Amino acid sequence: MAFSQGFLEELKDRNDITELISKYVALKRAGSVMLGLCPFHNEKTPSFTVFPKTRSYYCFGCGAGGDAVSFVMALEGLSYPDAIEHLANRAGMQLEVDDERPRSRVRRDRVVSATTEAARFFHKCLNAPIGQGAREYLEKRKLDNLTVRRFGIGFAPDSWDALSKHLTALGYTSEELEAAFLCRKGKNGGLYDVFRNRLVFPLIDTGGDVLGFSARRLNEADDRKYVNTSDTPAFKKSKFVFGMNMAKNSGEDTLIMCEGCMDAVALHQAGFGNAVATLGTAITSEQARLIARYAKTVYLSYDSDGAGKNATLKGIKLLSEVGVGAKILDLGDIKDPDEYIKQFGAEAFSRVIKGSTGQMDYKLKEIADGFNMNLPEEKLRAFDKMCAYGATLSGKAEREVCGARIGEICGISFSAVTETIDRKLTINKSRGKKEEAGKEMQSALGFGDKVNRDRVKVPAAVMIEERLLGLLLYKPELYPPVADRLKAESFITEFSKKVFSLYEDDFAQGKEPVLSKDGALTTEEISRVTGMLAARQSVNDNGKAALDACINALEREKLKADYDADISERGAAALEEYIAKLKESKKASEDKKV
Ligand code: UTP
Ligand code: MN
Repeated sequence: MAFSQGFLEELKDRNDITELISKYVALKRAGSVMLGLCPFHNEKTPSFTVFPKTRSYYCFGCGAGGDAVSFVMALEGLSYPDAIEHLANRAGMQLEVDDERPRSRVRRDRVVSATTEAARFFHKCLNAPIGQGAREYLEKRKLDNLTVRRFGIGFAPDSWDALSKHLTALGYTSEELEAAFLCRKGKNGGLYDVFRNRLVFPLIDTGGDVLGFSARRLNEADDRKYVNTSDTPAFKKSKFVFGMNMAKNSGEDTLIMCEGCMDAVALHQAGFGNAVATLGTAITSEQARLIARYAKTVYLSYDSDGAGKNATLKGIKLLSEVGVGAKILDLGDIKDPDEYIKQFGAEAFSRVIKGSTGQMDYKLKEIADGFNMNLPEEKLRAFDKMCAYGATLSGKAEREVCGARIGEICGISFSAVTETIDRKLTINKSRGKKEEAGKEMQSALGFGDKVNRDRVKVPAAVMIEERLLGLLLYKPELYPPVADRLKAESFITEFSKKVFSLYEDDFAQGKEPVLSKDGALTTEEISRVTGMLAARQSVNDNGKAALDACINALEREKLKADYDADISERGAAALEEYIAKLKESKKASEDKKV
């Protein structure tokens, strides 16, 4: 593909994997490896391992693995070429230009730079004579000048091409402007602006890069209230948290989470420097992880309508998975924090924060709201649902507190509540055990292996292949002497053939391959390959004898597999013969009848 082997090797040499990963994960030395909490799944004891020697990482908990390139791809959500570019920039290397690279690819830094220019342009427009209407709107919404400047709020003029013209004059290509979600191509082939006659809030990440805009209509007759930048080479909505660039410096370990920019900005102006927002959607697991880096507790302030409630419940769950506590702000009949502060002031909002309920009370209230608690039957059903919830709590103390609250709400004795919760807990446990046993059995049999689909057919062969490939990856210098005996065809499963073929040239030269080479393997595939390598790094049995033993074992397995295939082939032929005979004899008997 696009990058030469030499380039990829230099890239690997110049990006020290330990240093790269420590930017994201706190690593501690443990012998010859480094250990940390895995950034790809939630865990309390470290199983994420960095192997400086082979310049790879592997998580023994979730099985994520790879090299520097795959790490950047997975964690920053970048494509293969973007990850290469990111690492090249980081190491101060010139990116190889290759004419085979598709022209449609726009680089992240061009998108960021165009978006930054757009933000400057919009901010200027706000203060120019054409910005009069927008400034009046800001006054109506009670946003003052300082706030406007701190957030870089701007005005996208009521024009089809003001921004397109400005940015084109600055040298941005139409392809770049389209990729940045700033402009679109019209039917006549010319560019037109995406944001028109709107108040724009720049979307700035924690590194200070301007990535996009959330833009509110100024004319209530326009059909979309907000237009937000959708995913671009620089921006991913599901990973982004508005206001985090400021909230991370608020000096508090709490965040106030709102539904939109307007609320977060209004809260900042009212003195709540820890306000942030998702862009009108529920929290995603990626956002939850970002939040966990900066906060221990999050006050959720979503709308109280159905969608807002679901967003709240989902948020509680995802936050608790990353160890962040959630509290719910109850604004009564008021729609959102912005309106609450306008009506009652900042102090009243502080009181709401102090009186916020924990997730347990929120959940119990949510259940109670679904039933008419004055009717005995309904109350019992609510009680049952509450106990079911109580049984999902992992700590005994937590369950007791919950039980006490259920007792209060339903007017049922504490002992009766505890008994019900305990019974449900026992049922859950035995069900969980059964499911786990089922899963273990399945994975032992190789069902559900999506990376090597042949595992279910030839589990023993796969074990040998993995051992063999792991050895070659770990000690490629062992390969040249056995090159005659071991080719891609020597492997039995398609996946192993593919992996071997990918690295064969490196093995032939006795050279350690670049694992992420050509972006040829998917995230799951490269994780699996790194797992094979990681397995070798923790054992001593890695010499020529081990390799020979593997090759011999594989040859035997291969013979067996070929024989099995033959049998089943001839079996099919035999079946056909039988059916033909059956038909013949049937025909013969019918003939007799006539
Ligand atoms: P709201 O309708 O509650 O708007 O949508 P708001 O935040 O109170 O805004 P103002 O006060 O009317 O100006 C909540 C969020 O949902 C997203 C926006 O991010 C908004 O802030 N949204 C809403 C959209 O993305 N598109 C829409 O058309 C509407
Ligand atoms: Mn609002």
